[in-house]
Amino acid sequence: MYKIAKLAGDGIGPEIVTQAEKVLKAIAKKFNHEFQFSEALIGACAIEAFGNPYPLETHQLCMNSDAVLFGAIGHPKYDNDPKAKIRPEQGLLAMRKSLGLFANIRPVTTFKSLIDKSPLKAHLIEGVDFVVIRELTGGIYFGEPRGRSENGLTAFDTLVYTKEEIKRVTELAIKYALKRRKKLTAVDKANVLASSRLWRETVQELAIENPEVTIDFMFVDNAAMQLIQNPKYFDVVVTENMFGDILTDEASVITGSLGLLPSASIGVHTSVFEPIHGSYPQAAGKNIANPLGTILSAALLLDYAFNLPKEAALVQEAVEKSLEQNFVTEDITKENAKSTSEVGDWIAQYILDASI
Ligand code: IPM
Ligand code: MN
Repeated sequence: MYKIAKLAGDGIGPEIVTQAEKVLKAIAKKFNHEFQFSEALIGACAIEAFGNPYPLETHQLCMNSDAVLFGAIGHPKYDNDPKAKIRPEQGLLAMRKSLGLFANIRPVTTFKSLIDKSPLKAHLIEGVDFVVIRELTGGIYFGEPRGRSENGLTAFDTLVYTKEEIKRVTELAIKYALKRRKKLTAVDKANVLASSRLWRETVQELAIENPEVTIDFMFVDNAAMQLIQNPKYFDVVVTENMFGDILTDEASVITGSLGLLPSASIGVHTSVFEPIHGSYPQAAGKNIANPLGTILSAALLLDYAFNLPKEAALVQEAVEKSLEQNFVTEDITKENAKSTSEVGDWIAQYILDASI
């Protein structure tokens, strides 16, 4: 029996997580597994209920689960109020920190049937297959001190990294590269930032210890350009927290929709699986959001957390088929768009009907 914590969060979170749960239930039925789901609050909804975006109950549920399925976080009420002291995003950051999720794995692949939906030219993106490993518990997201000067006219954040933090995420990235095309690109801003120079120095040392992997370096501004100009160049990318955040939103454009990209956050305690997109409040409750990023995150969950690669592959296949048949939400097609729950039902049914 596997225990899954469901943290749907805000905005479209509940709708998309419901679809991923449906899909996981279909997998459980098909392959005779037992998955037990328990829910907890995180983000704006947790602030409403408990005054805390990451309540202790939620943390305890995560710690006592085998995997966490996460939806999205964020609410316009807070986005438009920069003075708000308690913010939904703090819940996500607190969860990442308290679960020790130092690596966020964001695979970027194109789907054949969507090649023409990408704003990039087909020949540039056909066959794109890389994975970004984003450091997730350090850097400017967490560095202290942060805040305002007494008169309120100056604000500051701190971008801080220890060698240890850089080493553990790079070692993980090297492991990934070894399983793939053995190429690692470390993205930094070493021409300007001291923290980036420590990154580069540390990665260079690890490169000497790991000669089987070809390691190169790229400044983040150049990487932003290469992602669009020559995305096939990349195999595994490792980078610090904020660069990884920005570059993966950019990378999602390659696939044709931000709604498609999944991620796995792994580290010390329970791993968390979540789409890379946000809470899309304009669509909340409308049953129009794309559930595929979350469903693909459920596939990562099966593979990484439960070591069930066949089950994961079937979810992946079902998603690919739904795209091929154009059974998709409105972000991907303008004609005959399907609802969030219709897409979830279709994929769950595909799994139940599959011959395995
Ligand atoms: C992401 C999101 C989060 C981040 C926000 C919601 C705090 O953009 O997971 O990429 O910046 O890490
Ligand atoms: Mn982001």
